[in-house]
Amino acid sequence: MNINRFILRLVSFRKWVFVLNLLAFILFSTLTLGTGYIVSRIFQNLTGDINYFGINVLLALILGIAIGRIILNVVCVYSWAILNFAYLALIRSNLLKRMTNQKKSKLSSKSSGELLNVFRDDANAVIDYLEYWVDGSAAFVYTLVALTVMFTIDPMITMVIIIPITIILVLVKYYNKKVERLYSESREATGAVTGFIGEAFSTVHAVKVASAEKNIVDHFVKLNEERKRISIKSTMLQSLIRTANTNVSDIAIGVILMLVASSLRNGTFSVADFVLFTTYLVQVSGSISEMGGFAAIKKSAEASLKRMNQVIPDHHPGELIEYGDVFMSGSLPPVVELDKKQEDILETVEINELNFQYPNSTNGIKNINLTLKRGSLTVVTGQIGSGKSTLLQVVLGLLRKDSGEIKWNNSVIDDPNTFFIPPRCAYTPQVPNLFSETIRDNILLGQTVEDEKLQDVLRLAVLEKDIDNLENGINTVIGARGAKLSGGQIQRVSIARMLMTNSELYIFDDISSALDLETEQTLWSRLFDESDSTCLAVSHRKPTLQRADQIIVLKEGEISAIGKLEDLLHSSEELKHIWFKDHNTTNEMKIKEVGESD
Ligand SMILES: Nc1ncnc2c1ncn2[C@@H]1O[C@H](COP(=O)(O)OP(=O)(O)O)[C@@H](O)[C@H]1O
Ligand SMILES: [Mg+2]
Repeated sequence: MNINRFILRLVSFRKWVFVLNLLAFILFSTLTLGTGYIVSRIFQNLTGDINYFGINVLLALILGIAIGRIILNVVCVYSWAILNFAYLALIRSNLLKRMTNQKKSKLSSKSSGELLNVFRDDANAVIDYLEYWVDGSAAFVYTLVALTVMFTIDPMITMVIIIPITIILVLVKYYNKKVERLYSESREATGAVTGFIGEAFSTVHAVKVASAEKNIVDHFVKLNEERKRISIKSTMLQSLIRTANTNVSDIAIGVILMLVASSLRNGTFSVADFVLFTTYLVQVSGSISEMGGFAAIKKSAEASLKRMNQVIPDHHPGELIEYGDVFMSGSLPPVVELDKKQEDILETVEINELNFQYPNSTNGIKNINLTLKRGSLTVVTGQIGSGKSTLLQVVLGLLRKDSGEIKWNNSVIDDPNTFFIPPRCAYTPQVPNLFSETIRDNILLGQTVEDEKLQDVLRLAVLEKDIDNLENGINTVIGARGAKLSGGQIQRVSIARMLMTNSELYIFDDISSALDLETEQTLWSRLFDESDSTCLAVSHRKPTLQRADQIIVLKEGEISAIGKLEDLLHSSEELKHIWFKDHNTTNEMKIKEVGESD
């Protein structure tokens, strides 16, 4: 979508406030011309040329204009504040909604720092461009009116002074490009110097061993010389441009003085006209210079719009300004909590011919078929890299499937990403994300629940002893990403958060990577003995595999075996391998014993 169409659509979102803002700002800017005009009339009075009004009336008019401009200023600032925040909120909420709905593989190629920049700076850049429309329109009207007035007074002089102003401003624009280039060169040169300092520090030992101190210093001097050369050039040019820019109106006034010296003497150009020309010129050159910045700001807004769209490649660019609610005052709307409906009660989840491949890679999952029944535990197992996490994420819609279908109670789910959410389904990732808040806040995520329910959940997640041992119990602040907790505690807080949702299906990724054997065992006993859960879990632990109603053995993204433990221990080499490799268990079991125990 082209940036101007984007801006037009954005503007229409708060059309009348925008029109008010635009008119107020144009009037605010153009009214100063009135002041200039009156001042020139005062001079006319003083020189006794013509006498329309008394000085007092003219002064009162100036005061009136000043008061009018103050009022307009308030209107401008207030309406712009409304527009600025409403537009930003619209863009950002659209962006956020679609980012969270985006294929994970596409989002994760950007760091969170980059994403934040897109959110903050790129949204701002688009609004800056819009602001430029307002400023530019005002500058345009101002210039037009001023030049017309000047032209009616003396067309010749007006033409003559506009030419040097234009030339200077064009030159300034031309050299501005050069300044930009020099600026980026100087940044590179500085980067080379600081980069070299970093490398020199980290290789002190190697430098000493090779007796290369002198060479290192020489190279450092050389890099610095280059940096100095470019910096001086760049600073010099910048100062020159600033000088030309700020003095362009003075130069024009000088030109007028030379031109009108004789006309002033013979009276065809009055002192009042001279005053009018000089006051208008200062601002006309400012306005022309302001309009000259248009191209650069437009380019930067275009780049920003592109970056925002790149973050949500699955969506149409126009969705970025889809109109919706923005909440600028009062309390925020309550978070919508989904009620569990009859059809949400899980009977079966059926997965047919599910396929997914990471972009530009042969990794993924292939031809996955499986069924989860209410109240059952399905354990996904397999070697590292066999596709266990991928499988869970495709089911959850965090990665978008290439083909296949997922059915919930026999109805096909079109968009797993929006369907597999509480209270239907909840998930604990392999690496849980916690906030640097209290354990309570991390589990509740803003919900209010009865204490009894919270205690139940803490017990189910095998967290109650850990909490008792913490100084502030459940109100302990856990530090950045849970720094104050052990890996196992982080995992269990995340599990508690998941259980808090009271979902029909719980999905656990790689539960055994952070939990010890006993805790994992306790977790399953409590979950299945004390609640009616349906679980899909990645684990390789013996007690978990023993408890499983079905085991899915993954190998290179495909199901290599599926069934109960005792059958698979006979039939699946892959499972045997996993079973016997796991020495991390207190009661080593033999295949025979498993068979007997059942
Ligand atoms: N974003 C990605 N792009 C390409 N390959 C990936 C990506 N993420 C994971 N993989 C690869 O896919 C395979 C399965 O990964 P994963 O599901 O995480 O394995 P597991 O959870 O069984 O250890 C691995 O070979 C892994 O390296
Ligand atoms: Mg994994």
